[in-house]
Amino acid sequence: MQIKIAPSILSADFSKMGEAIKNLNAAGADVIHCDVMDGSFVEPITFGGQMVKNIRPLTNLPLDCHLMIEHPKTQIKFFAEAGADIITVHYEACNKISPTYLRETLELIKSYGVKCGAVVNPDTDVEKIFPVFDLCDMVLIMSVFPGYGGQKFIPTALEQLKKAREYAVKMGRGDMDIEVDGGVTEANVGDIKAAGANVIVAGSTVFKSADMAATIAALKA
Ligand code: DX5
Ligand code: ZN
Repeated sequence: MQIKIAPSILSADFSKMGEAIKNLNAAGADVIHCDVMDGSFVEPITFGGQMVKNIRPLTNLPLDCHLMIEHPKTQIKFFAEAGADIITVHYEACNKISPTYLRETLELIKSYGVKCGAVVNPDTDVEKIFPVFDLCDMVLIMSVFPGYGGQKFIPTALEQLKKAREYAVKMGRGDMDIEVDGGVTEANVGDIKAAGANVIVAGSTVFKSADMAATIAALKA
């Protein structure tokens, strides 16, 4: 399984976003994780499609847009047209609208030729998204409650990752991307990979480091 490190620009200084993207290119990041928050699904508001549009010309790395928003269908067009490579949406935001909304949203993302993924919070059993694994290019297991960077890793995420990887293998998709997000450090990344994650989001660990390239390499090794 190829391990990919996905620094989250949530931890960047938003007044220097262009510089942050260039630093991530140089530091060996594999993916750029864009945390989109709407002030409703989660308390803070971060940014929308315009940010993705503006950073798109600054990097060839895939832009992984994690939508922590209500009614995600309404925003897919903007992120797809802005140049997102993959868009992930929360089971919790979709399921409160209707039982079919998650599948419809994933299909909508794919209709733009963009990869898609489903996300579960730490208190949502990953089994809830098994029915849409067939559509997903990636699944995202939250290891903190979404909303803020710099939180502590919730260890039950390891069990969720194992279940997700086992199910992917069972359906003949053993090489599926399984992403983990929240509280990843050099100390816990070994257990996280052993549990089955191969796309590793890291916000504060990368941005607070004095040597971003060395930290990314250490998380990857
Ligand atoms: C949390 C976000 C995460 C966050 C991770 O709501 O989805 O992507 O930036 O930050 P760290 O790595 O600092 O926990
Ligand atoms: Zn995220």
